[in-house]
Amino acid sequence: MDPLVLGIESTCDETGVALVRGTELLADVVASSMDEHARFGGIVPEVASRAHLEAMIPTIEEALSRAGHTLADVDAVAVASGPGLVGSLTVGVSAAKALALGLGKPLYGVNHVIGHIAVDELVHGEFPERIMALVVSGGHTSLLLVEDIATDVTELGHTLDDAAGEAFDKVGRLLGLPYPGGPHVDRLAREGNPTAIAFPRALTKPKDMAKHAYDFSFSGLKTAVARWVEACQARGEEVPTADVAASFAAAVADVLISKTIQACRENGVSTLVIGGGFSANSQLRDAAAARCAEAGIELRIPPIRFCTDNGAMIAALGSAVARRGLAPSRLSIGVDSSMPLTTVLV
Ligand code: KG4
Ligand code: ZN
Repeated sequence: MDPLVLGIESTCDETGVALVRGTELLADVVASSMDEHARFGGIVPEVASRAHLEAMIPTIEEALSRAGHTLADVDAVAVASGPGLVGSLTVGVSAAKALALGLGKPLYGVNHVIGHIAVDELVHGEFPERIMALVVSGGHTSLLLVEDIATDVTELGHTLDDAAGEAFDKVGRLLGLPYPGGPHVDRLAREGNPTAIAFPRALTKPKDMAKHAYDFSFSGLKTAVARWVEACQARGEEVPTADVAASFAAAVADVLISKTIQACRENGVSTLVIGGGFSANSQLRDAAAARCAEAGIELRIPPIRFCTDNGAMIAALGSAVARRGLAPSRLSIGVDSSMPLTTVLV
């Protein structure tokens, strides 16, 4: 029988604990401190760390109880050891070390971003040999070539400045929408015309493609939106917010999906997995579905609750690592706030 893996996620503001055996999810519990950050308009690391400390043990207990297991049944402990906020990561890694030491079971420190992809195995089954993966969230925008989810991940490109979700949050603020703005901009965009305003598609010109074929940049786009809105206000006109949101969202989705499809073609990959909180974005989902169908690429996107930060993604990656019989992490591992995306395990 495959090992029972307990996974712990605490990279940002979600305390997530899950139990996975093989590719079967037995329980998944998430506590979030988002409400405590909303009034600051962004995550306050100190507040997040304290919230993890308070939520950690109750979340572990709840996950075990929902799975119908006790700590004695756990065969391995997986934890996100980076990238993320140092204080938040430290709470999760400390808890995982204590469990591994107390239970005498192996500890696996795994990469949070790769976990965003690994979780799809719990939903759509084990990955084929080679897949392309696009991880999009408030903190990350990365294109990964995955030969093996547990051992062989190559980062083809990433954002040079803002993450996709971050750009949405900033445009949300600009349009006077509540924090985090992403979902609000998405909703507003559905009422607007995506071709109303020709916002720039960064790093898509031939001279940029030579060096940055698979890299992204959203900071110039955000500035272009700000300038457009300012010019409109300066003329004393009412800002057509739905059209601005729709045209902005179309520019983000277009660049993300065009580059991803090109990477699939050039690497002979026929399966694309999209993960991370921003994969909830409907403009991205629509563009991905249409363009993948056109290109004959199988598209796998986990349900939203597995796209935002959760414990299942870490337990899923821990399970993939444990199933392959890889050597566990040392109990002296630290946390790595900028853990390279090519590192599956520390
Ligand atoms: O993965 P996630 O939950 O947290 C991070 O690790 O960053 O991603 C959250 C990000 C936020 O920036 C949020 O505004 C954005 O994803 N987001 C969306 C949507 N849902 C979440 N952005 C656009 N459209 C959405 N539907
Ligand atoms: Zn994340």
